[in-house]
Amino acid sequence: MSKYVLVTGGTGYIGSHTTVELLESGYEVVIVDNLSNSERFVLKGIQKITGRKVPFHKVDCRDLARLRRIFRQYKFDAVIHFAASKAVGESVEKPLLYYRNNLDSLMNILTLMREFQVPNLVFSSSCTVYGQAEKLPVSEQTPRREATSPYGNTKHICEDIIRDSVAAYPEIRSIALRYFNPIGAHPSAEIGELPRGVPNNLIPFVTQTAAGIRPMLSVFGDDYNTPDGSCIRDYINVVDLAKAHVVAVDRMTGGKMKQRFEFFNVGTGRGVSTLEVVKTFEQVNHLKLNYKIVGRRAGDIEAVWADPTYANEELGWKAEKTLEETLRSAWAWQQHLDRQAK
Ligand code: NAD
Ligand code: WQD
Repeated sequence: MSKYVLVTGGTGYIGSHTTVELLESGYEVVIVDNLSNSERFVLKGIQKITGRKVPFHKVDCRDLARLRRIFRQYKFDAVIHFAASKAVGESVEKPLLYYRNNLDSLMNILTLMREFQVPNLVFSSSCTVYGQAEKLPVSEQTPRREATSPYGNTKHICEDIIRDSVAAYPEIRSIALRYFNPIGAHPSAEIGELPRGVPNNLIPFVTQTAAGIRPMLSVFGDDYNTPDGSCIRDYINVVDLAKAHVVAVDRMTGGKMKQRFEFFNVGTGRGVSTLEVVKTFEQVNHLKLNYKIVGRRAGDIEAVWADPTYANEELGWKAEKTLEETLRSAWAWQQHLDRQAK
């Protein structure tokens, strides 16, 4: 019998790719999303890729009563909780919105998991919990640092809420995945990232600049203490990241966890600079990008990349896609969007 997974935030960027991978691995998926940062048409993209129509409920995770109805309707084996607000800059302007959305949503999920005996939670955490680490790459043993934004702090606090809940309530267990920088799109170009307004993140800004939607990309700083002076990140293909969620659900539902709360770094292990991203994007897509070097962006950290050894060995998961194919997929997705807009 197939296992049922509740995917909150399932029409979002990472949630939609994870839904595809879950379906292709034989899981049944139910999506809950309030569409605050995604579109209903994403469901069509998922259907095109998988041939499956996923049950969708437009529900806000802050609404405990409506969420309870979903838990009553299905018998879930696991929850993957993506639903959250994620814009760092906006979180500085609207901290209460971020604390309310990200913390209340998680607490409602945990409450209902206990109420309906759903034991397994995969939580979307972030490399933001490490801040600028003293030693690179960062492993799971690297100490977390005080967050530099309300958004980052919600990930910190959510991890603590889960740790304390798992310690107190024997009926639940959890895996937190700390994502590095997810980029790219499904190879079919049927789903991808859908930024609203001016993108904050590098790759959508790059693809929108290449498409002529933005006149120019600003590269934030070339005076960092890195080989080419620009910042370094660990860019992970979103499909590879999605697969890590399937492996995490397999591990939990298969009774393979070693501790009742585990966390894993989900990255490639390779640090890539902003300028390398720009150059590789140009090369693999045979185009020229209009960009200029500007001053540093406030709050940016100089360099961070993952030591993914623990995830590789313990989860049996490894990032497989190259930066080149990932950047090709990002451009194919932008072109798909542009065709839709015409
Ligand atoms: P996204 O905005 O594309 O997806 C989040 C989805 O959650 C959206 O569809 C949004 O409509 C929905 N949502 C938000 N609040 C909700 C609520 N209260 N109730 C129901 N639905 C709600 O973002 P994403 O990039 O797919 O990120 C997914 C998760 O991964 C988030 O928790 C994010 O913090 C985390 N994360 C993202 C990144 C990244 O760079 N994209 C990195 C690390 C961690
Ligand atoms: C990547 C690099 C920029 C835009 C953010 C969050 C983090 C996590 C992932 C969720 C940086 C440079 C960017 C541009 C540029 N999210 N850049 N010009 O800052 O690593 O992380 O998303 O948890 O919490 O902080 O990602 O894509 O914004 O930037 O030069 O127009 O690209 O300086 O070095 P970041 P990003």
